[in-house]
Amino acid sequence: MNKKRTLILTGIALLLIAVIVGVVLNQPYKFHGFIVPPVQHDNHVFLRTQDGPMNLTTYHDKYVLLYFGYTYCPDVCPTSLAKLKTALAELTDKQRKQVQVIFVSVDPDRDTLEKLNEYAKLFGTDFIGATGTRTEIDLVTESLGVEYKINPPDENGNYSVDHSANTYVIDPMGYLVMMWSHDTLAEEIAEDLTYLIETGIPVDQQLLAGPTPTSVICSLTLIPEFVESGQGLYEHNCAQCHGVDLGGIPGWRTPLADGSHLAPPLGISSVIWQKTEAELIETIKQGKNLNKPIHMPAFESTLSDEEINSILQYIYSKWSINQKNYYAGNLTQTPMFSPAPTSTPTP
Ligand code: HEC
Repeated sequence: MNKKRTLILTGIALLLIAVIVGVVLNQPYKFHGFIVPPVQHDNHVFLRTQDGPMNLTTYHDKYVLLYFGYTYCPDVCPTSLAKLKTALAELTDKQRKQVQVIFVSVDPDRDTLEKLNEYAKLFGTDFIGATGTRTEIDLVTESLGVEYKINPPDENGNYSVDHSANTYVIDPMGYLVMMWSHDTLAEEIAEDLTYLIETGIPVDQQLLAGPTPTSVICSLTLIPEFVESGQGLYEHNCAQCHGVDLGGIPGWRTPLADGSHLAPPLGISSVIWQKTEAELIETIKQGKNLNKPIHMPAFESTLSDEEINSILQYIYSKWSINQKNYYAGNLTQTPMFSPAPTSTPTP
């Protein structure tokens, strides 16, 4: 009797542990930085570096980490830059190549381009030092909401500059997406960066960041049930060519001799978000380059409309908000296919 009770209790305890572990494992990644509603800065603004003019589109395809300060800065700037250096050292070489640190001086009167370059390189051989005229600097700081103030000089002409100590993250599409405060630790920055590079900011967290400047995100309503069943369908039907992580086959950009392509990525690095949803459905149903050895097979007879819809929902759920905002103009307002959702996700 006693033995039986112990067994039952042990069973219950194990079950509880399993539930707790399940809950913990299912927790979405929590960023240490603040996710901001995506803000696109003015791409026409140029800043100056020792190697010539640059603007943020120069670093298209990379995450740009921007820090605003000045080289006379006694402690905050060196600590922040050193922290970025430590954080980057925790990334793999491949991830590291997808990040560019730019130190922008808001004190161009004292920071020459040469001095800035030297200063930035103290922290990382590929860190960039940049500045501009007052107008150029203000265009950048204003478009990103960065604040600074040049204090009046003392009797010796020395002055200090107050400036925000945040690090600003511009995503590969040129949107400000995240900010790390001065208190964020190097390990935390490394974790966030790894997640950003490998996954991007998941939809639900982007939505939590508040209303976006473009309201279109609301037209892309992801239905959790569809996303979930879409994942299973994707893994079963598409992953063997497009990759479990939707990463595609390396080298997919280069056309093969017969004009066909290897399977492209469908996730965050995809180019298919430039197509309309109707075109994607058409490709999935009819296939592409069917007469060539490497081709996209037709799924018309194997997948129902609803299943294709679910797969697309799963694919969209992996995109960054910027891709979605761009794409939403091409999307239908409601899910393509019936049935209507039973539960509406909170926007
Ligand atoms: C047997 C391998 C294979 C499978 C399985 C496969 N694909 Fe493809 N897919 C390809 C190839 C190869 C291409 C590139 C065709 C080309 O451009 O020549 C492609 C292209 C695409 C494109 C891009 C078309 C464009 O115009 O850019 C989409 C979207 C796509 N596939 C979605 C899917 C989905 C969704 C599934 C699962 C239902 C799937 N694929 C399953 C091989 C595959």
